[in-house]
Amino acid sequence: MCGIVAYIGPREAYPVILKGLKRLEYRGYDSSGVALLHDGLKVYKKKGKVAELEESLVGQNLHAHAGIGHTRWATHGEPSDRNAHPHQSSNGKLAMIHNGIIENYTQLKNELIRKGYQFKSDTDTEVLLNFIEDIQRNNQCILEEAVRIALKRVVGAYVIVLLDKDNPDTLIAARKGSPLVIGVGRGEHFLASDASPIIEYTKEVVYVNDYELAILKADELVLKNLGNEKITPFVQKLDMELAAIEKGGYDHFMLKEIFEQPDTIFDCLRGRLDITNNTITMAGVLQNIDQLKSANRIIIIACGTSWHAGLTAEYIIEELCRIPVEVEYASEFRYRNPVVHPGDVIIAISQSGETADTMVAIERAKEQGAFIFGVVNVVGSSIARISHAGAYTHAGHEIGVASTKAFTAQLVVLTLIALKVAWEKGSVDQERYTHLLHELYAIPEKVREVLLLNRQIEQLAKKYQGATDALYLGRGYNFPIALEGALKLKEISYIHAEGYPAAEMKHGPIALVDEHLPVVFVATRDSYHEKIVSNIQEIKARKGKVIAVITAGDQTITGMADDTIGIPEADEILAPLLSVIPLQLLSYHIGVAKGCDVDKPRNLAKSVTVE
Ligand code: G6P
Repeated sequence: MCGIVAYIGPREAYPVILKGLKRLEYRGYDSSGVALLHDGLKVYKKKGKVAELEESLVGQNLHAHAGIGHTRWATHGEPSDRNAHPHQSSNGKLAMIHNGIIENYTQLKNELIRKGYQFKSDTDTEVLLNFIEDIQRNNQCILEEAVRIALKRVVGAYVIVLLDKDNPDTLIAARKGSPLVIGVGRGEHFLASDASPIIEYTKEVVYVNDYELAILKADELVLKNLGNEKITPFVQKLDMELAAIEKGGYDHFMLKEIFEQPDTIFDCLRGRLDITNNTITMAGVLQNIDQLKSANRIIIIACGTSWHAGLTAEYIIEELCRIPVEVEYASEFRYRNPVVHPGDVIIAISQSGETADTMVAIERAKEQGAFIFGVVNVVGSSIARISHAGAYTHAGHEIGVASTKAFTAQLVVLTLIALKVAWEKGSVDQERYTHLLHELYAIPEKVREVLLLNRQIEQLAKKYQGATDALYLGRGYNFPIALEGALKLKEISYIHAEGYPAAEMKHGPIALVDEHLPVVFVATRDSYHEKIVSNIQEIKARKGKVIAVITAGDQTITGMADDTIGIPEADEILAPLLSVIPLQLLSYHIGVAKGCDVDKPRNLAKSVTVE
């Protein structure tokens, strides 16, 4: 959460930073701000989205060759101009941006208050900044040294970047627990939370590791650890194109990403699935196959939409591999005292690879001897690095805050893992295995067919946009998809929605049903079909409005439901890859019809790097 950008070099810093902040808005958009070194140190900040900051600065002289910028997702202190970053130190000489949480900030703040410091904001960031200023004053040391001393006292997660009025040719940055990328240009350096603000200018990047400090000048990059020892920067080439982070003619990133799914799923299968020889190649799985196939238990850890992918995988892995699976919310797992044995395999799923709860949950399981397998989208991200092995989802940069293409890519990777392990273990027979490989291969084309329903779903959205609540029901492989459909609707349109196992609704949610309540059934033809037909009847008997995602041509449900969305036939294990797509589109169109900012829903952020 929170996006940071910084620049030092011959270009005008403000336009570089502004454009970068717009690309990082998915990380939070409660307020934004910039600090520039021109004619001294100038700080400009504003509550609201980056466009509001931009508007407030029209006509100002913003000429500068060094600057820092921030887009905030509020943790300490409400969204306001006052709490927006950058913050300025008490003596006015330093400006700082911060992503993360300083957990012991109250203690540090009290120490500083006793020394006479006053605070202009409610943030932990201003406390850390004044703490650095105080150390510099007491020790009469250079800023770099003061930062190092301060960070040794800090408990929590951070990426910080500082501008110093007295040293206008240097930026200082440090990281622990939140992401930080340095772009290495010719005679210039960029800093950002991810590579998207940098890609336009250079493809050479350095990923900063935890407990590292970067001292940047236009033409020099020095990396050190907190013990003041120099580290050789590892310069990598970015494998990403500018077009991948632009809307490409779509109204919103969310719609673009929904429509990318035939390609992202194909990319996910490319080089892994060979239907001529009926093989799956996944280096991370193959190298650890003994560990995986003899796992006593698989524990899946994730948050949000990734957790829903995990829940779907529970059904698939248990069916194919006959290994018991538990699916855990990372935030719960990390704080209880879970029983984990060395024979357990943890599958950690994360789009961003930076979710704080998932990272800590992994560390807890690692301490207890578990083997960690990461299923991650962002290459080189923290979770990818702390896992023992893994498989990337290759969905490309996902910008819409509500996850869509990353979810289907996660499902594909998890299915491939299940199939590979099942085959190696001998828990799936040749016929079923071959059938599933061919079915999987056909999925991208079937997704393309589902996308042809876009207009129909847009009309449906208009019909139901006035709803205040909605119920999403599914059974078996489609139960997690009901949860995901409900989550998408909540996120994007702010309509209260609940996902439930279709049979379980009799134990409570059915009390909500009346002629106003839309009930979305995920009811493709599978081994639960007859049962879900009965559930639909139970809702109809109580006058609920039924919208059903069905296998095209299913006359039984068409005769009962108010509206149906017919999708292509698929093996029940793979049906979620298709049934989720109409639900993504339905939420999208309802959100748009209601005038919501679908790419940046209120209060949310794409990458949750605070617990
Ligand atoms: C946030 C995002 C969700 C995402 C969840 C987990 O809540 O808004 O879209 O599913 O975090 O994120 P991860 O990056 O770990 O998949």
